[in-house]
Amino acid sequence: MLLTLAAGCAPRATTNRGDDALGARRTPTFPAEWRFRPGARAEFGREAMIASNSREASEAGVQILRAGGNAVDAAVAVGYAMAVTYPVAGNIGGGGFMVIRLADGRAATIDYREVAPLAATRNMYLDANGQPTDRSRVGHLAVGVPGAVMGMSEALAKFGTKSLAEVMAPAIRLADEGFVIDSAFWRGLRSDSAKNVKYGGAALFYPGGAPLRPGTRLVQKDLAATLRRIAQRGPREFYEGQTADLLVAEMQRGGGLITKQDLAQYKAIWREPLRTTYRGHTVLGMPPVSSGGTTSFAILHMLETRDTLPTFGSAAYAHLFAEAERRAFIDRNTKLCDPAFCTVPVAELTSKDYARKLAATIDPQHASRTGALMQAPTGLHTTHYSVVDRQGNAVSTTTTLNLGYGSGVYVTGAGFFLNDEMDDLAAAPGKPNAFGLIEGEQNAVQPGKRPLSSMTPTIVLDPRGQVLLVAGAAGGPTIISGTTQVILNVIDHRMTLADAMRAPRLHHQARPDSIAYERNGLTPAALDSLKAMGHGLEQRGSMVNVNAVMRVRGGWEGVSEPRSVGAAVGY
Ligand code: GLY
Repeated sequence: MLLTLAAGCAPRATTNRGDDALGARRTPTFPAEWRFRPGARAEFGREAMIASNSREASEAGVQILRAGGNAVDAAVAVGYAMAVTYPVAGNIGGGGFMVIRLADGRAATIDYREVAPLAATRNMYLDANGQPTDRSRVGHLAVGVPGAVMGMSEALAKFGTKSLAEVMAPAIRLADEGFVIDSAFWRGLRSDSAKNVKYGGAALFYPGGAPLRPGTRLVQKDLAATLRRIAQRGPREFYEGQTADLLVAEMQRGGGLITKQDLAQYKAIWREPLRTTYRGHTVLGMPPVSSGGTTSFAILHMLETRDTLPTFGSAAYAHLFAEAERRAFIDRNTKLCDPAFCTVPVAELTSKDYARKLAATIDPQHASRTGALMQAPTGLHTTHYSVVDRQGNAVSTTTTLNLGYGSGVYVTGAGFFLNDEMDDLAAAPGKPNAFGLIEGEQNAVQPGKRPLSSMTPTIVLDPRGQVLLVAGAAGGPTIISGTTQVILNVIDHRMTLADAMRAPRLHHQARPDSIAYERNGLTPAALDSLKAMGHGLEQRGSMVNVNAVMRVRGGWEGVSEPRSVGAAVGY
């Protein structure tokens, strides 16, 4: 039976600043009830641009760029500033990944993911009946050895031009002098209050038991002192100095596992970037232990087997994207892990031949069933920032504490929250983690192991080899979907960056076996068609928190996530 697919309306061609990179941009049609209208303007900068979830952090990076710093200097300045102004996810107590592409053509990635403590054991998160507990998400046992300070320091030492003290100065000022918190900050504190009030951050962030009110100036003297020590003494201060002492004392207070030995042994890892082509563009992505690059590339490769993609917003497009995601996520959940602990078949999973075989199994009219495709049983607060400078250097960074405010544990005397990244390991293989991801034995808890991540910092080069797009996201596994869809919106659907960021998003992670979509993001007709094809459908409020920068004629456009907080700042 042939289904009548709900077609999106034909897009209109429009001329604007995006012209020269990819031909004319087109105005998409969004569903009538969708929260955003097409045609919004992006922030424009002739020389440089930074998009992040914090205006103060974007401004900190621009301050460093204006003082002659390059994109790596600015990215590190943004990273430290986010630890002050966006503590729900910005951090020195967590970890992340950075993809760097220099104007001279060199590219690099650095993995500063957290590591399981040496005393971690396979069943440490199970109760007496073998059932998972919340100890992998809340409290001292949930904390992996943080990597942020080491990763940012190494990136700066290798590719930056300024000293740690110079790039950290704006963050230290923001911690010392304070900044005014807004209602989004208050809402974040409120939603994570149950865990946060149990630990050392309660006095500062919940005076009298209630979250700080919007309009309050937040001054963080302990954090300012910690940042000042790191600025003066370098990363060893965090891993072996007074900050290490304070962190280990915090662990001992709450029954955590991290020791001085764990901290002293921590290493950030430089990894060869994943590199592929998509419709004539070069895409640079993050290799494992992030699954982001591998999974996003697999989706792009499957879609590239179609000469053109169905119209944006149509059921045919949602179906094709979801079926490609389903297949890529099955591989993600069953085959990827820390390469120091298992063999990861990255070359196969990112090969175009393999994608062709997978894409050939997509029935254009019917949903597949995840269970039928799987051969074996089988991460919410992160933040991304994108930076470009006047030379054309670009940095794409995603960093996280895992869930909002991480484990909730706050290092007393040092002034920062610690991650709960241990939940991105499989606390109970075969059972879902906080993001509903079901991972296998290869991600079971082991000492020294890095948890599999979905973070997808990405840089796309245009067919001439110039940086076109710098993008990445927050949102657990939806990071992969959101980042990939912004790339598709720009390359295939030819949207402006502002529209590409406002377009409704979809997500399919194989299990649960359903397409997640944003409320009013699909037309009723498209929903009916997808149901008729056999898809499960799950409506969500909003999905994914992307921050992106794109080259346009005469400069750069930047867009911070329209569904969330932040700012793009350029000049
Ligand atoms: N903590 C979320 C992720 O790394 O995917």
